[in-house]
Amino acid sequence: MFDFDEVVMRKGTDCTKWDQYGDKDIIPLWVADMDFKTVPEVKEAIVKRAEHGIYGYTVAMKDLNSEIISFVKRHHAIDIEAKDILLVTGVVHGLHLALSVLTESDDKVLVMMPSYPPLVNTPRQLKREVVMTSFVNEDENYKVDLEDFEKKLKDDPKIKCFILCNPHNPTGHLFSKEEIESLLAICYKYGVYVISDEIHGDLIMPGHTHHSALGTKEEYLDNVVVLCAPTKTFNLAGIKVSYILCKNEKIMKMLQDEAKAVGIASINIFGYTALEAAYRYGDEWLKECNTYILANFKYLENYLKENLPLAKTHIPDATYLAWVSLDAFDLPLDFVDRLKEEGGVHFNPGVSFDERYQKYIRVNCATPRANLKEGLDRLVRWLKNNQII
Ligand SMILES: Cc1ncc(COP(=O)(O)O)c(C=O)c1O
Repeated sequence: MFDFDEVVMRKGTDCTKWDQYGDKDIIPLWVADMDFKTVPEVKEAIVKRAEHGIYGYTVAMKDLNSEIISFVKRHHAIDIEAKDILLVTGVVHGLHLALSVLTESDDKVLVMMPSYPPLVNTPRQLKREVVMTSFVNEDENYKVDLEDFEKKLKDDPKIKCFILCNPHNPTGHLFSKEEIESLLAICYKYGVYVISDEIHGDLIMPGHTHHSALGTKEEYLDNVVVLCAPTKTFNLAGIKVSYILCKNEKIMKMLQDEAKAVGIASINIFGYTALEAAYRYGDEWLKECNTYILANFKYLENYLKENLPLAKTHIPDATYLAWVSLDAFDLPLDFVDRLKEEGGVHFNPGVSFDERYQKYIRVNCATPRANLKEGLDRLVRWLKNNQII
């Protein structure tokens, strides 16, 4: 049994989430990392590696690839080989590489909204125009709009690539097998590449299954690049380790060449160590972590029902991010900033994922329950103090 209730002090560790407020007392429920200690064997492996004292250039040895092959088989039921894996320093880095090799500067890229901002900003940074399709929101149940999706590809042959985010940040939507098959079938029909960001793919609530884009029909796979990482799963974001999976050898060669060209032919030495140990020893930790997150989601849902019944949310099937609608309230436009400055709780504003979600917040639930409770108490107190409720 792991103790996810343990409150670990992160202040004073140059922590993005906790160390930006100076002396102010602010509960951060925003950026997507966890307030939990990682798998004990990962820490042990890093300490052991660090004790060696030499940190020269390092390569991925056979053992690391076989851990990745075995992990994706166990958790996602997909078969890959060592030649299908390219280690990179982050998923957004992988996205940048994939877009660089799959598209030209005049091409367009399709993204499903609302969206984790880098999935929109990275193509734009590369001068690829972003075309948007949206989920249908039925009372906080998000569904893919296949009709609009196909129309976008049919009407605009300049769209060369679709960026999928599965499970989806910020809605927590876990795409069903049928949805994935349908999206990939449409992309195949119009000759459009799929980059599937599956960084949240291991954070699956008990009773649900993740369907990877690489788990679809053989004929679709030539056009698919999947971005994976142990970083969200095992709270290793500061170590900067992720990997690209691609079964198309030509595309893999282009990705490798592009990675070398930007000077990242290998990754951080501790990235290899952490990834290998997490994938070898982390299954039980992950299972308990997902169970704890689900309990936090339920806590949040009940808390809102009792204290803020007009707020709307839907327990996600995946991720540790809750997407909460405060549409029913008369809120100032800068309410998220004011909640932080005056109320002492920091959420991600919905508007940063899509300008149509002005009165939404994304709540990071990968934190001890006591912390989540305190953050929610502060939200309610601020709304009361401002006569909003
Ligand atoms: C969907 C998604 N992709 C990518 C990332 C960032 O990944 P990395 O830090 O490996 O670039 C995040 C982080 O929140 C995310 O939610």
